[in-house]
Formats: sequence, structure tokens, C-alpha cells
Amino acid sequence: MPSITVRIDGRDVSVSEGTTILEACRAAGIRIPTLCYHPDLSIAGNCRVCVVEVDGWQTLTAACVTPVTPGLSIRTSSARVRRARRTMTELLLASHDSNCPECVRNGNCELQELAEDLGIQRNRFDTTERPRSVEEVSSAVMRDLSKCILCTRCVRTCEELQSVAVVKPVERSRDVHMGTFMDSGLDGVPCTMCGQCIDRCPVGALYEKTGVDSVWDALEDPDRYVVVQTAPAVRVGLAEALGFAVARSTGKMVAALRRLGFDSVLDTDFTADLTIIEEGNELLSRLRSSLAGTNEEES
Ligand code: FES
Repeated sequence: MPSITVRIDGRDVSVSEGTTILEACRAAGIRIPTLCYHPDLSIAGNCRVCVVEVDGWQTLTAACVTPVTPGLSIRTSSARVRRARRTMTELLLASHDSNCPECVRNGNCELQELAEDLGIQRNRFDTTERPRSVEEVSSAVMRDLSKCILCTRCVRTCEELQSVAVVKPVERSRDVHMGTFMDSGLDGVPCTMCGQCIDRCPVGALYEKTGVDSVWDALEDPDRYVVVQTAPAVRVGLAEALGFAVARSTGKMVAALRRLGFDSVLDTDFTADLTIIEEGNELLSRLRSSLAGTNEEES
């Protein structure tokens, strides 16, 4: 692919044709803030916090949607850019429930991090935030629309990555929100409960329903026999997080669960093996059919 040279903050950078300004900046080691952008997803370009200034252009442009063209001279942190990013972020904060200490994503929120980076301590805009509205939208997913910044990452994840497409923008204008057909909740549509939308939500609008309190209740009930069943990946995750060898983590995990009060600890090894065999077969059959398709095209 032919390469293009652009000037970013006074430095010449060569990138391939079709690269966006955001990608070019990142390739040059320059950090541009983003919210609606996610590398796994198509580009929505709706939050505008990634704006940059291009010499000779009247308006600022969103770096995530603008491809580079030869000779562009880009400024990523001019006063105009910083003012615009700050304003966009303040507007988002003004319509967002900013009670961060009570949010599940406190300390791990992209909007909070952006506000800190931009030095926003007091918002110049009156808050129009929606009242706190935590809903159980399915047996696995919780939603808080007062936190949603309408970035549509959940919609794109559901459609583009998971090919499920049950999460959609619902209503219009001020009332628009991310929901489902007829707002029936995820249990009312063919949601697979994969949790990928939660994983890509930049704020605390979508999060996993926790069962921790009911587990504690069960453990404290002397009349209940409480069984825990672990998936094989859990011991690997624990080993990685706590710095054990994987070979030792199973015993430690079982001992810890027994100490917590579980009466039995069961393992999902056999069924996990069956799943892996099935997935392996599915992969082989997909490879075979894609190879057969390639051979047909060539002949
Ligand atoms: Fe570019 Fe949102 S990250 S417009």
C-alpha cells in the first residue's frame, strides 16, 4: 500500500494510505483521547473528544473518522483543540450521573479518566443529568441509563462482533437510549448473555449482575448444602492474578472455597473438554468449507 507523509505536531510521519488521523497519531506515539472509538468496532464518530486541528481547515475534525491525505499538517494539542475537548467532555458530564463513588466503574471509567486528564474539576454547564435508573435488563445484565453517554459501543459490539444485533438505539432526540426492540429487556430478545457489551462500555452504564450477596446468604444458612462449580479458566486467572504456578492454583482455590464455607467444590473439567472438542470440530469444518470455497474460486 502506498505511504503518505503528514506532519503531526511539527514532525513528519509516514503512514499507509487509508490510515485515519487517530491511527497516524498513535503510530507516532501521540495520545489522542477517545470515547466512542474502539479498535474492535466500526467508527461512529459521535463523541468528538478526539478532535484535532488541521492547518487551513476552518473547523476541527474528529481524528477517528478522518483519513490522512498527503501534506496534512495536524496539531493535536493546540489551545483550540484543548478547549474543544474540554467543552465536549463537560457537556457529556453534564448529562451524566456524576456520583462516581457509587458507580461500579469508579476508578476504571474512561470518562472519569478523560475528565481527570483534562483537569476538569468544576463543570461550567448546568447539569441536565437523568435521575439514577438502575434496571435489571436481564438475568445477567444491569443497566443504568443515567450513566450512558450514547457512544453506541454496545450496539456495535452486539451487531458487528457477536452478530446478535439485539441492542439498538430506541426513541429519538432527548429520549434516545440504548435498548431493545419495544424496550422489552434483554430476556425478551434473543440475547446470548455473552457480556461483550459490558466489556466495551466505557462507563458504568452496563454491568454484570452480581450474585455475591445471595452466595453469602446461602453460605450463612446452616440448613443449606452449598455447592460451587468452577470453570477451568478460573484457576488460570487466579494463578495469573496472584502469581502462582497454574499447577498449584487448583488446590489453593479449592481450599479457599472450602474455607469460605462451601460444602462441595465441583469442577467442570469433563464438560469443558467436550466443549473444546466441539469447538475444535467446528473450527475444522469452517476451515474445510472456506478452503473448498477458495479452491472453487481458483478453478
Ligand atoms: Fe472520535 Fe468519538 S472517538 S468521535
